[in-house]
Amino acid sequence: MPFKNTTTRYGAVSRFLHWSVFLLFVCQYVGASIMTHLARDKTLFGLSQGDYYNWHKSFGLILLELALLRLLWRKTTPLPDWAPTLSEAERTISHRNETLLYWCMFLLPISGYLFVMAGGFGVKLFGVYDLLNPIGKQETLATLALVVHIVVSYAAVVFIAWHVGLGLKHHLFDRDGFLNRMLPFSRQ
Ligand code: HEM
Ligand code: HEM
Repeated sequence: MPFKNTTTRYGAVSRFLHWSVFLLFVCQYVGASIMTHLARDKTLFGLSQGDYYNWHKSFGLILLELALLRLLWRKTTPLPDWAPTLSEAERTISHRNETLLYWCMFLLPISGYLFVMAGGFGVKLFGVYDLLNPIGKQETLATLALVVHIVVSYAAVVFIAWHVGLGLKHHLFDRDGFLNRMLPFSRQ
């Protein structure tokens, strides 16, 4: 598989960034639902609520770096041409939806970071290293950031659902091999 995108398919770097961000998103949603429901004095798979919060914050910050790399890569490397089987309307909506997905990739970690720093909770990276808090306690900012974090986390589910739905519709019903352009081990 070529390193860079060609006119007909995504290269290894785009695919690596796409699927690592996807895996981290899955961890974020699963982790968030555990940490917000687990009682403080209980553990799940040997991890306490505090551990889940730490992993959520740490993975979220890794995701922010990957999103930044991904955006830089997209801006400096030409994308493949649109799949020929996508209609004009699907191209227009996909383009807008991808822009929204990029906004989510940035807004979610940034709002999460602002919430924990302005709320005075801080980040203990992977449970080991306390990050400096450059903001200090600011209640209004913390509340605003939390609202953004929650609203965007629900909005992202809608954008991801549309994105995945379109891909599966083309691949499974239209049988045009659409997902092969991005699947990790596909040679097409
Ligand atoms: C793309 C990355 C992220 C995703 C997808 C994500 C997703 C979520 C979701 C779905 C929730 C549960 C919302 C609810 O209460 O219904 C949540 C809560 C939370 N997130 Fe994130 N998050 C991300 C990054 C971060 C980062 C980087 C931090 C902090 C550094 C963070 C801190 C928190 C905290 C503290 C809560 C609990 C808020 C509360 O008390 O209700 N998140 N996140
Ligand atoms: C967190 C979840 C996801 C996000 C944020 C996301 C985001 C994106 C973005 C922004 C692109 C445009 C190319 C780029 O800039 O890298 C893209 C392309 C693509 N994604 Fe996803 N994606 C997600 C999950 C998925 C899943 C689960 C599938 C498979 C069912 C999928 C299939 C594809 C395909 C096939 C393309 C290429 C589309 C084309 O050829 O025009 N994505 N994705």
